[in-house]
Amino acid sequence: MKYNLTDLTWDESEYNALKKCIKKNSFTMGKEVKSFEKNFAKKFNSKYSIMVNSGSSANLIAVYSLFFLKKNNLKIGDEVLVPAISWSTTFNPLINFGLKMKFIDIDPLTLNIDENLIEKSISAKTKAIFCVNLLGLSSNLSTIKKIANKYNLHLLEDNCESLASKHKNKYAGTFGKLGTFSFFFSHHIQTMEGGMILTNNEYLYQVCQSLRAHGWSREIENRKFFSLPNDKFKNKFNFILPGFNVRPLEMSGALGNIQLKKISHFQKIRYLNAKYLYKLMRDNEDFYLQKFEKNSSFFSFAFIKKKESQINLKKLIKYLIDKKIEVRPIASGLFTNQPVIKYSNYTSSSLKNAEYISNNSFYVGNYPKNLFKQIDYLINTISKYKLLNNK
Ligand SMILES: Cc1ncc(COP(=O)(O)O)c(C=O)c1O
Repeated sequence: MKYNLTDLTWDESEYNALKKCIKKNSFTMGKEVKSFEKNFAKKFNSKYSIMVNSGSSANLIAVYSLFFLKKNNLKIGDEVLVPAISWSTTFNPLINFGLKMKFIDIDPLTLNIDENLIEKSISAKTKAIFCVNLLGLSSNLSTIKKIANKYNLHLLEDNCESLASKHKNKYAGTFGKLGTFSFFFSHHIQTMEGGMILTNNEYLYQVCQSLRAHGWSREIENRKFFSLPNDKFKNKFNFILPGFNVRPLEMSGALGNIQLKKISHFQKIRYLNAKYLYKLMRDNEDFYLQKFEKNSSFFSFAFIKKKESQINLKKLIKYLIDKKIEVRPIASGLFTNQPVIKYSNYTSSSLKNAEYISNNSFYVGNYPKNLFKQIDYLINTISKYKLLNNK
């Protein structure tokens, strides 16, 4: 028996979509990407979407776009509030662009930013909140949005781990000025590499389109805010912003269109796996799981050691790996403990929950296949470990 972190969710339709692109010699960003963007925005009730080559690039472009706002734009040295646990590339753009991070502790049950700590962390230098919806569970986005509005802060959402998750009947990733998504192999939909930005702000949409593609203006749709020179020879090479090239391949757009149709089906299976596991774990003496919410999109299953448990987590993890159960830490763990932190400018108050979770947890995969057997195997393996080791 094996329990992998993830698995392929493609069938022949994804392969056919790839073949179609190859047959038409359609490789660079074109119609498929455009239609995936339109379909994605529609599915998540947003006005605009910009596809890029990864969730990390989506974060890079989303953060950078705020530097080009006409009012209240981000500037080097501005402070951004972030949760203490997330993936490295939630934080890296903030480091890259010279922003100061203020780490906020997480709620030990949801694993998301503790919204009760946000207001007292706001200072005169605070300009934005970069919220993360971890492992499929939305943060308390309605409350956080109210705080952001009250203090005139930009709200960004890293929703790379929580596609299709909802908070109060509204999709996660659509509460902030910009929300980001990842379509990496282990995520909710698989274009293998790929990402998306959602926004309702037309100006930021146009800025992101330029930042995605060299900083030129030619690929901006409608160009309401940026004009082209009146010169056919020059106007294709009109550079307006200090952009990157993080465009997706056309094949990624074609894959996205196929996978998008499967989201509700995927979501149902992920939910059934979760229901099965949470029931088995209800009275577990050693571990608790991330808070159960019906509207979570159950990215994966975090096991957090209870304070009173005597189990030796290091030994257990080794045992699980030996038994072919793939386990891994929650995102990057407490980010201030990562070596890369020395390149950043940051402050924090107490991060005791994040520190505890970082040192006392692991996660196993959830993906849209029936995992009841794998879940039984995991629970039995933990029990067997306990019988053999007594702690
Ligand atoms: C919270 C979070 N943000 C960003 C990313 C980056 O996404 P990608 O791997 O598509 O670059 C990830 C990837 O796992 C993530 O978990």
